[in-house]
Amino acid sequence: MSMAPRTKLLAGNWKMNKLSSELPGFFEAFARELGAGAPGAEILFAVPYTLLAKARELAAPRGIEIAAQNVHSEPNGAFTGEVSFAMLKDVGIGATLIGHSERRQYFGETDEAVAKKTKAALAQGVKPIVCVGETLAEREANLTGEVVGRQLDAVLKGLGNPKTLGNLVIAYEPVWAIGTGRSATSAQAQDVHRFIRARVVAHSSREAADSLRILYGGSANPANIAELLAQADIDGALVGGASLKPADFAAMVRAAG
Ligand code: PGA
Repeated sequence: MSMAPRTKLLAGNWKMNKLSSELPGFFEAFARELGAGAPGAEILFAVPYTLLAKARELAAPRGIEIAAQNVHSEPNGAFTGEVSFAMLKDVGIGATLIGHSERRQYFGETDEAVAKKTKAALAQGVKPIVCVGETLAEREANLTGEVVGRQLDAVLKGLGNPKTLGNLVIAYEPVWAIGTGRSATSAQAQDVHRFIRARVVAHSSREAADSLRILYGGSANPANIAELLAQADIDGALVGGASLKPADFAAMVRAAG
């Protein structure tokens, strides 16, 4: 059986950081650090709404994709403070994070909301990077599979058991590893990634599962990235802190290929 290799995806998540004046310097330094030659991975940065247009202008010529960090599922209407898919596309953006644990934790995003957004993203042709992951208490109570399974099932059920999943990307981000400097071990991450892929086989198809990219996130850094990426079911990383530093993130991209 032949299987097309999954192109690695290195995605930065800037969270609520950076101003437009920092962008030219950042992308210049990042390109310099990356060096000549085609990178061995796709590169993406999820940036605050205010930076989307300018970041895209600077990143697109370098073959780097810019994504939003959130989106609303409705096409328009009385949703003060929200941004629609059409609005993202209006400024040339074709990808977004959905259901990051900080959105779930601090802004009350439910599995149902995440499912709705993911369904809308696929319908709109916007690449959804959907985040799942357990808290420390849940891991310690041996509930990792149950929690990640529930989060994933909500999304997959919302899609109605399709044979293919388009450009869906899943990011496994254990909450206890995010911003703590305490990454999951490569074995812990691989276990959950394998679990996620098997769940996708059950809901969708072997083919969809084989082409699905599953990113690891949570204190990924230049020192641990190679070992994480060497795991069979880890197809890239969603990187917070280290993606704010051009040299660190460039080193992580280089480690991918
Ligand atoms: P971190 O964040 O790399 O700073 O742990 C990852 C994330 O929240 O996406």
